[in-house]
Amino acid sequence: MVRHRIAWLPGDGIGPEVLEATRPVLDASGFKADFLPGHIGWELWKREGTPLPDRTIELLRNTDCAFLGAVTSKPGPDAQAELLPAIRAKGARYSSAVLRIRRLFDLYVCLRPCRAFPGNPQNHREGIDITIFRENTEGMYAGIEWERVPQDFFLVRGAERVPRQAAVTVRSITRKASLRIARAAFEHAAGGPRWRVGGGTARTEGSRRRVTAVHKANVMRATDGLFLGAVREVAGRYPSVEYEEMLVDSCALQLLRDPLRFDILLTTNLFGDILSDLCAGLVGGMGFAPSANIGTGYAMFEPAHGSAPDIAGKGVANPIAAILSAGMMLDWLGAAEQAKNIQRAVSEVVSEGKFRTPDMGGSSSTMEIASAVCNKL
Ligand code: NAI
Ligand code: MG
Repeated sequence: MVRHRIAWLPGDGIGPEVLEATRPVLDASGFKADFLPGHIGWELWKREGTPLPDRTIELLRNTDCAFLGAVTSKPGPDAQAELLPAIRAKGARYSSAVLRIRRLFDLYVCLRPCRAFPGNPQNHREGIDITIFRENTEGMYAGIEWERVPQDFFLVRGAERVPRQAAVTVRSITRKASLRIARAAFEHAAGGPRWRVGGGTARTEGSRRRVTAVHKANVMRATDGLFLGAVREVAGRYPSVEYEEMLVDSCALQLLRDPLRFDILLTTNLFGDILSDLCAGLVGGMGFAPSANIGTGYAMFEPAHGSAPDIAGKGVANPIAAILSAGMMLDWLGAAEQAKNIQRAVSEVVSEGKFRTPDMGGSSSTMEIASAVCNKL
């Protein structure tokens, strides 16, 4: 078997802590690879004026995929204030490392499974098993923004309604990006191998899958109209998959009231970001939410949570989101059996409840959870 090369990016805050806990689990699963450490995050920004130095991009280019802990990012004024004076003098401008990687490598699918492990006291309800397909390259995250609307903007018809002093963020949606995220979601639903990454265990094999497209086309007629049009086109090619559409606000309520009715959520970038935290909350919180950013030839796996400065350095972060993300990575790399074993080991540790980090209502440390998972493996 080929030996995989993985860019290993701990980052900031609890990022290094949850990655340190993930490595032994990967080893215990029997998976072998070269893990090549790389620099990323806030400390790099402060010292070098970029959170993603060229040497890290080079590392990504020379690996099969990347595994990221988390990175801190702060609003513009704070970012400037924390720069080393010598770097500040050069006029560095902050831009998010994660967004840049997603864009550079065209990682257009953000795949986030939210699964309630049986017996987790933090479950909103038992049996929840929702997979989110979030468009990962455009929408509100396209980076098209002005703190003050440029004068030329007012030459466009309709723009006279924009207040002169307004700050503006443009939501851009394309047919191309909508079609490909829709294809990924429907392929996953139809059991296609490429998108089975992190695939369900709770859901009975053979039962009919359902895709719910989440939108706000009644207000954002142009952008979400285009998105829905593309999704319907793809839906038409998958008669075996149930398809429905839901307004994002109504979806938020339904997720709380009746989460078991949902299977696959397919949505645009910002709605996906918000709903994935909501869904994480249904299954125990950010400590249980893994994620994968997948493109055509590259992928990056990371827990959905951030650097959690409120608990960083205490050794109590829940490593399960990171460990499950590692499982998704193994799936993507073709080590499906080992991926399944990791999933099962985590499930057993959670159900037994002997080891629980504070977010799970216990007092175990990050490394105690990792050891418990290793023992199951
Ligand atoms: P966060 O996800 O870091 O934390 C939110 C809450 O969840 C906190 O109370 C935290 O203690 C808790 N939490 C998160 N992960 C946990 C874990 N593994 N175990 C136990 N508790 C956990 O989000 P927040 O606070 O909004 O952002 C903190 C920083 O992280 C910011 O600088 C933000 O920009 C960054 N961030 C980075 C992301 C990434 O690297 N992809 C994603 C989201 C936020
Ligand atoms: Mg988020």
